Amino acid sequence: MLRRMGTLSIVVAVLAAGCAAPPALPPRAKDPGVRGGPIGAGGPLPGLIGTERAFFQAGLTAFLEVETVKEGLGPRFNLDSCGGCHAHPNTGGSSPNVNPQVAIASKAGARNIVPAFITLNGPVREVRFKSKTDGTPDGGVHNLYTIAGRGDAPGCALVQPDFKGEAARDNLIFRIPTPVFGAGLIEAIPDQTITANLRVEPSGRAVMGVAGRANRRGPGRVNTSSNDGSITRFGWKAQDQSLLIFAGEAYNVEMGVTNELFPTERDETPGCQFNATPESRTKLDASSVTDALSDPMKFALFMRFLAPPQPAPETPSSARGLSVFTEIGCALCHVPSMTTGRSSTAALSGKPARLFSDLLLHRMGARLADGITQGVAEGDEFRTAPLWGLGQRIFLMHDGRTTDLVEAIEMHASVGKDRLPPSEATAVIARFRTLGEDKKQDLLNFLRSL
Ligand code: HEC
Ligand code: HEC
Repeated sequence: MLRRMGTLSIVVAVLAAGCAAPPALPPRAKDPGVRGGPIGAGGPLPGLIGTERAFFQAGLTAFLEVETVKEGLGPRFNLDSCGGCHAHPNTGGSSPNVNPQVAIASKAGARNIVPAFITLNGPVREVRFKSKTDGTPDGGVHNLYTIAGRGDAPGCALVQPDFKGEAARDNLIFRIPTPVFGAGLIEAIPDQTITANLRVEPSGRAVMGVAGRANRRGPGRVNTSSNDGSITRFGWKAQDQSLLIFAGEAYNVEMGVTNELFPTERDETPGCQFNATPESRTKLDASSVTDALSDPMKFALFMRFLAPPQPAPETPSSARGLSVFTEIGCALCHVPSMTTGRSSTAALSGKPARLFSDLLLHRMGARLADGITQGVAEGDEFRTAPLWGLGQRIFLMHDGRTTDLVEAIEMHASVGKDRLPPSEATAVIARFRTLGEDKKQDLLNFLRSL
């Protein structure tokens, strides 16, 4: 018996050894994950003068301020402060680890139901509906919550949208916050510098599979303002032109606070109007200039004067990764650097913006398409996401669908489907797939160094 057991053990041991000795493959490349260490984001631009720093501080305070109904919150909203959504790794960033949209649902006595797509460890989300119930296009933001039930909104009765029903008819589109570090540099890039990215050499066009396609100037195109025709550049679809416009819009859309740029309540239900409009305005009787500014002006100045994120020191692997990034064509869209124009703010004038984006729209294929049109951006078009600060980002892609860099890269590729052309990135991703695991790892290490 003992002897038989012994034989069996030997057989098992031999089999196990056989399994444990595959031909020596390099380990599979893996996203090293959110970078620890110094934060390196959230401070003022180097080179600001004293008064500019004072406005940066006043703007930061306003950006972090938590609003009540008396201060303008609601009737419908997604959160009660800018800084709550733009939080990680520091104020101005993107979605934090713990989603503040769970606790806010019942804050101050509110009786909101937390929709299934909002979870404690998931990303902060803004929701758009693809179509209206009658089937016509919608595309607008529908707020998660209402002020009904809150102690500071007596008598207000409102119901939340039917998110369950909308989810059942596959009508929901999500957006996560884009970070605003370095946003002043992005704002100061001349239109001509952006359009120059349209003229990348023919070999680049060929790599992106757009050479010779009818009706395409490609690769990529600019989004423009329907009012003055200038290039718009902020947001996942490059839909807004300036930080001030984005700030005024976000104040009204995300928080429900009317202001001089967006003076009308998005929900005018009687019984839920607690203030005269606009709720935030220039304070004509203020004793100092910083106090006189309306909140959107303060937000805009804070974001404009916010320094770009500081990358980690270069390592041999991250240096090789940058070469891979360029060689396989990631840099055709994620253009490493652009230079700002002549700015009336010296700290923003003629400066390199190392944002890793061309600020152009690209057709990204059926896997990423969201069916939403914004400006000239169609349902499958997105702004090349700037990659500065990527090392510290928790959630990735416009809807935060992944936290894994390899998945984020893979999603760039798709063949034509549902009348949509293939993604412009498909050929580049094919090259990524043929890389050896060590080169892939260098690329991932480089991305997490940003
Ligand atoms: C509920 C969460 C939430 C709140 C609150 C919020 N934002 Fe955002 N922010 C977002 C989302 C989501 C986007 C991306 C929107 C898009 O492009 O569709 C965004 C994008 C931005 C951008 C664009 C940056 C870029 O380069 O793309 C700016 C600027 C901005 N927000 C400023 C603000 C300001 C100022 C406030 C406060 C008034 C604010 N946000 C409040 C979620 C939020
Ligand atoms: C055709 C242009 C194009 C090419 C080529 C391209 N990208 Fe992108 N990239 C985009 C666009 C557009 C987005 C935003 C897509 C979305 O959110 O739906 C994006 C998003 C990303 C993101 C997520 C960033 C965020 O903020 O969530 C990462 C990471 C990324 N790209 C890395 C790469 C790498 C690495 C390569 C090369 C292997 C590459 N990209 C090639 C256009 C491109």
